[in-house]
Amino acid sequence: MTKEYHISVIPGDGTGPEVVAEGIKILQTLADKFYFKLNFTYYDIGGEHYKATGEILPENILESIAESNAIYLGAIGHPDVKPGILEKGILLKLRFYFDQYINLRPVKLYEGVETPLKDKGPSDIDFVVVRENTEGLYAGAGGCLKHGTADEVAIQESINTRKGVERCIRYAFEYCRKRNQRKKLTLCGKTNVLTFAFELWERTFYEVAKEYPDIETDYAHVDAICMWMVKNPEWFDVIVTDNMFGDIITDLGAMIQGGMGIAAGANINPEGISMFEPIGGSAPKYTGKNIINPIAAISAAQIMLETIGEPMAASLIEESVIRVLRDDLKDVAAGKMGYSTQEVGDLVISYIKGNSKQ
Ligand code: IPM
Ligand code: MN
Repeated sequence: MTKEYHISVIPGDGTGPEVVAEGIKILQTLADKFYFKLNFTYYDIGGEHYKATGEILPENILESIAESNAIYLGAIGHPDVKPGILEKGILLKLRFYFDQYINLRPVKLYEGVETPLKDKGPSDIDFVVVRENTEGLYAGAGGCLKHGTADEVAIQESINTRKGVERCIRYAFEYCRKRNQRKKLTLCGKTNVLTFAFELWERTFYEVAKEYPDIETDYAHVDAICMWMVKNPEWFDVIVTDNMFGDIITDLGAMIQGGMGIAAGANINPEGISMFEPIGGSAPKYTGKNIINPIAAISAAQIMLETIGEPMAASLIEESVIRVLRDDLKDVAAGKMGYSTQEVGDLVISYIKGNSKQ
């Protein structure tokens, strides 16, 4: 019987719809090639929709998405909407609602892509960040008192539960083993200052490590991690960290792998519905110009296929992306690629189909 997958698609704001369109084109090509079926359901949510209707992410959409196998997301964020509304109301809401407790972010420099790091190349920059995705400073705990007065107080607490920390660390060990490269897992924390939160992380890390004698363990403070990511990125294989630190170090990671046009991520619930997205934002200034790089969205589609159970189709995306980056694109930045957004998608498809360039 033909395998069939239901994909919820949220193109979102800015350049989200443009890059998602390329990803969908590629997914469809692979479904035809490998004889599986993809049913796409589009959801019109995001900044434009919010401005027009006041609606952010209604319950009935969440219920409908819950019936699907995966979520493919473009970008959420609008210059006219106050920061926090869409981020909390859509992106974080989806992550929390579907308990996508892992944010998996590969940092891989492909051949032909320029890194700002001097004397570093593809063999030096190839690691994965496992970011906890439902707790920490993102849990929304805290509040304010006497707002707007001279006596105001703002509190934002980092929530770290044993269960949340342990499942993330366990996932990272399993992932590191499966990845089967250096077999080294680095915990990124701040045990010298955040003595409550990271004492729990560190203790859990070394406890779980006992079950993985084949994995080398290491620890570094987050500030040192930033330094080493620039100076010696080849030291890393898999890094596990909390939500906030993971957010920050993966932007640094995106830059050393060639920029936001390249970086893809996955919000994973290993037992549930996961969500795949390019990690760059909605890039309002490039909207509608057909110049943004769709590779990040295409690589997000790759991780989606890997996760839902189509590994062969997934690796064909990666092989094709490798060729496009190595042989075709001049530069990976918007407007400098030498190709339009759609042409980059077409190039990937031509390699998937086994043709040389059109
Ligand atoms: C990311 C983004 C989000 C985050 C924002 C938009 C809420 O920066 O996916 O990294 O902080 O997680
Ligand atoms: Mn971020």
